[in-house]
Amino acid sequence: MDRLPGEYERALGTYLQQGGESSLKQAYELGRRALSEGRGILDMIGVHQQVLEKILINGQKADTVHQAGEFFAELMSPFEMTHRAFGEANDTLRRLNESLESETRRIARSLHDESGQLLAAVHIQLRQMARGLSTAAQSNLVEVESLLEQVEQQLRNFSHELRPTVLDDYGLLPALQTLAEKFSKRFGLPVSVDGKVAPRLSKTIEAAMYRVAQEALNNVARHAKASRVNIRLWRAPGEFHCCIRDDGVGFDPVAVAKGSRNTLGLLGMRERLNVLGGTLRIESTPQQGTELKILVPVEA
Ligand SMILES: Nc1ncnc2c1ncn2[C@@H]1O[C@H](COP(=O)(O)OP(=O)(O)O)[C@@H](O)[C@H]1O
Ligand SMILES: [Mg+2]
Repeated sequence: MDRLPGEYERALGTYLQQGGESSLKQAYELGRRALSEGRGILDMIGVHQQVLEKILINGQKADTVHQAGEFFAELMSPFEMTHRAFGEANDTLRRLNESLESETRRIARSLHDESGQLLAAVHIQLRQMARGLSTAAQSNLVEVESLLEQVEQQLRNFSHELRPTVLDDYGLLPALQTLAEKFSKRFGLPVSVDGKVAPRLSKTIEAAMYRVAQEALNNVARHAKASRVNIRLWRAPGEFHCCIRDDGVGFDPVAVAKGSRNTLGLLGMRERLNVLGGTLRIESTPQQGTELKILVPVEA
């Protein structure tokens, strides 16, 4: 049985008759309990309304509504505090993501630029060395040079994967097209990217969306057994949308979310979007493919 409305009615009645700090404290305690029971704000407004109507029918007083409002505000302050704490945690997470991105960008740049310069210097030295050597030794050096080139290529790939310069220089759509090309080549799976993202999104949204798409494609490669993937992007007034669809084996998102196994990929996507005030909806049915529907609010 729902005991809260009755308890609230008694506590409010006491407050209306006698006032006093101790019944306000009781309101606060009731509020904390309601919050821990998972009640929502609208639910609490309903309880207040119901109790107030009962009290007003039993005997009207001019300032009853005002006083009951004060009592209700006290009841709601745990909700207010939780709401603020949530907002602050969100801000912190967003700042953390931003600093992680800028650190990743720094590492990617120095990997690309500094290692690139060092390796170029090694090439020059090797060529100078080669001049005084026998033909046999020279051909050994050619071998070394080709290995070095492979190292360079891998470092370049690695730095692009960490933080693609095309994302910073040209924006989300070209960055996703490049990502899709690489993915298609690597997994032999066609990925089409279409849509329009002009004007450009903020750096924070671009970075978050790129990471979300990266994880979505990783999931397709690991789990979907799909034969094609489509990524669609578009802007609407005040909103940015992205749909990522594959025609693979699909899954049950509810069962996965409830499952005991840690599934950090989908959770990470959601968290990245949540801090931007955005949402991720997963539409998937076993054997019928998967669609991720992403919406992020943007400033007009
Ligand atoms: N595109 C997809 N197609 C089929 N199954 C998927 C897809 N994306 C996610 N899944 C399922 O959801 C689970 C959770 O995904 P995720 O959170 O990224 O964790 P992980 O990839 O580490 O398993 C996967 O293990 C898989 O069963
Ligand atoms: Mg994953």
